[in-house]
Amino acid sequence: MRKSETVTSIKSAKGSRKLTMITAYDALFASLFCKEVDMILVGDSLGMSFCGEPDTLSVTMEQMIYHTKAVCNGAPESFVICDMPFGSTNTKEQALENAVEIFRKTRADAVKIEGGAERAELVKHLCDNAIAVMGHVGLMPQSVRSEGGYKVQGRDEKSFEKVLFDAAAIEKAGAFAIVVEGVTPKLAEAVTRELSIPVIGIGAGACTDGQVLVWSDMLGFYESFKPKFVKRYLEGAKLVKEAVAKYTEEVKNGRFPAKEHTYGSKSSEC
Ligand code: KIV
Repeated sequence: MRKSETVTSIKSAKGSRKLTMITAYDALFASLFCKEVDMILVGDSLGMSFCGEPDTLSVTMEQMIYHTKAVCNGAPESFVICDMPFGSTNTKEQALENAVEIFRKTRADAVKIEGGAERAELVKHLCDNAIAVMGHVGLMPQSVRSEGGYKVQGRDEKSFEKVLFDAAAIEKAGAFAIVVEGVTPKLAEAVTRELSIPVIGIGAGACTDGQVLVWSDMLGFYESFKPKFVKRYLEGAKLVKEAVAKYTEEVKNGRFPAKEHTYGSKSSEC
């Protein structure tokens, strides 16, 4: 199956077109998104958005493989990236073993790894072994417990310099693109300027090479909390609730099923 994007086309987008990425966790939604975006990320955000967990730390390799398979089935022509979950990249040997398992069991095109300079050697090891890697620096949700919360990076000089350093190290290690999450627009702009690979922002302002959003946030299905950086393009939760309420009402008042929803009889009456 020919893919609509490749590592080469994504890299060459830098400076010529903005890249769009959206998360997906299943075949159905992936099939709805695939024609509209450049890349689909099977993010470990599925721990929260799909499984209702409080953070992403409980997500396993097994879950990532299951959901990535589904996404690849729904969007066979899309460039699909599988997030490597917490604890799956502790050593370079473990990371390669897990990335190979993802490539063997799914049709993902790349993996995404959270982490800065401390992960550079590991990223190089994967790239040297034919695994395309997308980096992820700035606010890293897998570090939420060790960091004591989700903290925007780049507000002070130390974190500004650290994120720049981390991003450069991941580029040097061979990543084809990098996500920069939860940073000041000034820092995102500096990373975008310094790196020659595409920088995909989330909560990072407008001056990056592209954007990524979690599907359930941007389509308004996740109601309990809307981060400042999210724009809702649909009020999904409201629409779904209204539709299900209507269905319930029509079953109760006998309007559903009507004649056109009934097999082999001229009337819908029992
Ligand atoms: O897990 C995820 O969905 C992500 C994006 C927020 C970039 O890592």
